[in-house]
Amino acid sequence: MIKVLVTGGAGFIGANFVHFLRRHRPDWQIINLDLLTYAGNPENLRDLENDPQHTLVKGDVAEGELVAGLFARYGISRVVHFAAETHVDRSILDPAVFVRTNVLGTFFLLEAARQAWKDLPQEAAPRFLHISTDEVYGSLGSKDPPVTEAAPYAPSSPYAASKAGADFLVRSYFRTYRLPVLITNCSNNYGPYQFPEKLIPFSIRQALEQKPIPLYGQGGNVRDWLFVEDHCRALLTVLEQGQPGETYNIAGLQEKTNLELVRLLLSLLQEMRPDLGDLERLITFVPDRPGHDWRYALNCRKIDTALGWRPQVNLEEGLGRTISWYLSHLEWLNRVCSGAYRQFLQKQYGAGVI
Ligand code: NAD
Ligand code: TYD
Repeated sequence: MIKVLVTGGAGFIGANFVHFLRRHRPDWQIINLDLLTYAGNPENLRDLENDPQHTLVKGDVAEGELVAGLFARYGISRVVHFAAETHVDRSILDPAVFVRTNVLGTFFLLEAARQAWKDLPQEAAPRFLHISTDEVYGSLGSKDPPVTEAAPYAPSSPYAASKAGADFLVRSYFRTYRLPVLITNCSNNYGPYQFPEKLIPFSIRQALEQKPIPLYGQGGNVRDWLFVEDHCRALLTVLEQGQPGETYNIAGLQEKTNLELVRLLLSLLQEMRPDLGDLERLITFVPDRPGHDWRYALNCRKIDTALGWRPQVNLEEGLGRTISWYLSHLEWLNRVCSGAYRQFLQKQYGAGVI
């Protein structure tokens, strides 16, 4: 039986991936290591509470002994590594934890895999899939072509730099030790279970509460949007069919300025909830994020050609499904927004927005 260590599986993409695996690989045993920070929520996994194929372990990827112990105890032969500090704005306010979790945590996982997999038989076919981001490639201008996997790294924020550092460690474990690693770099994800500090769920929540939706600068920055279910399908494809040592870009092929995106989101929300009234009036331009990257865009021809994956959910459909999910999970939304998160918002925006 395949035993897969998923890290950060109580967070947004991780929880979606764990559910995806349960549906598509029901015989796999999932060990889910998550520190349950503000972004990790066991409620995201509530339907798996009595599932014998899923074990949630509360713990820190940056604790080497704990991680090594999991490999020994469970006989792990696959790793899907999501655990990270992920919010750019938080990395600007408090970068230290980003270096610890994202760089050191990745190092301890690699090291545990290297030690544990030394003596594995060939047929165990171990694989270490590291989830990274388009942000490591740095900012593009409006007319630049989307970047390929061969583009140089040029991270801007402490978050992006910590992910870049982790990626380099992962690459080095292939070159130096032949550890069977794979790296994926993806666009901005959206969908169910995303913590409402990120643009899409944050805007939904503000709109529901009839509060301002802050857009940095003039809302002209461009992001590419990937529906999380498309991402999960890409990750399983890379885990099973990718070539060790390779990197694969995973794009949504849906580029929008932040203003275009939020307008589309609000118009879809208004259709579902006409009682909320005109929502565009809530858009408020606020001072720009320091070091704010202008645009990200990925060329994902490699994964299409080599593994036959391409995104299937367009932005309108994905946003519609996302809004429906949040509207039917209002209690979840209120619970994750209590306490520590409100303090962060206060620091970030002052009393006006929250
Ligand atoms: P998230 O912030 O929603 O979840 C992160 C999870 O990691 C949480 O469950 C948290 O509790 C856990 N975690 C944090 N520190 C930990 C530690 N020290 N030990 C164990 N667990 C810890 O993040 P996400 O959006 O689901 O992102 C998952 C991965 O995908 C990250 O590596 C991120 O860099 C990458 N990524 C995300 C996006 C996106 O748009 N969300 C885009 C590109 C890449
Ligand atoms: P975000 O969801 O934080 O992801 P990332 O910074 O990793 O791309 O932000 C997406 C875009 O939206 C980014 O250009 C910053 C912008 N943004 C705002 O304008 N206002 C906000 O309140 C937030 C959270 C983001």
